[in-house]
Amino acid sequence: MNDDATLTASELDSGILYRLFSGAIAPRPIAWVSTISKDGHANLAPFSFFTVASVAPPVLAFSPLLNGEGATKDTIANLKDVGECVVHIGGEALAQALNATSASLPPQDDEFEHAGLTKAPLGDLRVPRIAEAPIAFGCKLRDILHFGDSPLAGNLVLAEVTVIHAAPEVWDGRHVGVEALKPIGRMAGSDYIRCTDLFALERPK
Ligand SMILES: Cc1cc2nc3c(=O)[nH]c(=O)nc-3n(C[C@H](O)[C@H](O)[C@H](O)COP(=O)(O)O)c2cc1C
Repeated sequence: MNDDATLTASELDSGILYRLFSGAIAPRPIAWVSTISKDGHANLAPFSFFTVASVAPPVLAFSPLLNGEGATKDTIANLKDVGECVVHIGGEALAQALNATSASLPPQDDEFEHAGLTKAPLGDLRVPRIAEAPIAFGCKLRDILHFGDSPLAGNLVLAEVTVIHAAPEVWDGRHVGVEALKPIGRMAGSDYIRCTDLFALERPK
């Protein structure tokens, strides 16, 4: 028998689970992802269901959910058609622009223009990077794991990094400067968080 604080996940409404995940699994880093459609329209969107999946080979993982109507987001449609994306890390200076690119625009609208951002090429990719973002990981699609057709079902993207842009102001070739990057994270609802209260712990041997 369950006590009051122990719940069966399958009995919880997906909206309740979404709020529990986004409040409890926080702060989350944010993948700021550019893609293009097969007819060349550029798209940008932030995804905080995001992490490193592998270092060798280098693979990033992020999950665009189906929306509240069960429809696929443009990022997934573009990845299926073109097979490439660029995952950017934007610091606090770019928070407003990043947030602006979470608007639900029609697929033909260019979110770079909507957010006042500049496109730059990255390696041999068709997908542009955000010139203003200090770090950009250019990726080829490895796989997409679909978790169903219901609203909020995840589509876990595994994207292999093939080319990297890292501004020398934030990366000296070895370490990323937190002071220079000013990373931000996502909390629940509309909340973001700064990394201004660090503490260190040595790992035990
Ligand atoms: C900071 C932030 C993080 C977000 N993280 C996610 C996420 O992990 N998964 C998701 O499906 N939507 C997430 N969203 C919402 C998407 O960015 C939004 O649905 C966007 O319009 C999708 O764009 P697209 O249709 O161009 O792919 C997030 C929004 C914000 C502002």
